[in-house]
Amino acid sequence: MALRPGFVDAVGRAELAAAIEACRRAPGPGFRILSPPGRPLVISDRDRAADVAAIGRLARAGTGLAAGAFGSTSAVLLEDQWFLSEAGAGTPSPWHQDQPFLPVEPFFVTIWIPLDPPPGRDSLRAIPGSQRGPLYAPADFSSDAPEPGGDWESGRTAPMFAPALSPGDAVLIDSRVLHATGGFCPAPFRRISLRYAPPDARLSPRPWPVAERWRLLAGAAGGPLPLSLPRIAAD
Ligand SMILES: [Fe+2]
Repeated sequence: MALRPGFVDAVGRAELAAAIEACRRAPGPGFRILSPPGRPLVISDRDRAADVAAIGRLARAGTGLAAGAFGSTSAVLLEDQWFLSEAGAGTPSPWHQDQPFLPVEPFFVTIWIPLDPPPGRDSLRAIPGSQRGPLYAPADFSSDAPEPGGDWESGRTAPMFAPALSPGDAVLIDSRVLHATGGFCPAPFRRISLRYAPPDARLSPRPWPVAERWRLLAGAAGGPLPLSLPRIAAD
């Protein structure tokens, strides 16, 4: 895990806020309404780096962070995704690892960037060192099912990674790290996730369903990532 304070400055945040509004006016195939009908809106759009300039610039900037974590000179952009929660929305994510959700080995990283003040001081919590522990089956985000590996918070004595984050800060998190996010949003909350794999990452089928776009991406198990995913050189 790594924290890069002030990764996106105020001008960049304004450009990204405008980009989110542009996406709302012209949603892409990955646009989703994540909130139940009649509740404060939670929406998301994915894979807009190629056609929305501000998101593309952010994806290129994030490559430097990711490649630094990989010790490489480039990284593969797996996906970009923004989220917007309206005031009053509650968007807690249970404890989980990102690794089970994408058929990519040995790991990937997510760079998470809040564009507004995150709700609650502990909006992102993670367990240091858990990338070296077991890999759990994917968490069920839509139910009260038990969280992978049990209760990670009550009775815990070892320190947790729970940085106080400001808009524009970037958190880089290993896909194997157990983490939880979210909470009640007293004000609108926008954030962007960028996911990158090392240049030598391989495809690896999962024994559970993965997102449709990953089922449709051509490529053999154990083979390289599809060439349709952008490989970006770090500046
Ligand atoms: Fe996650």
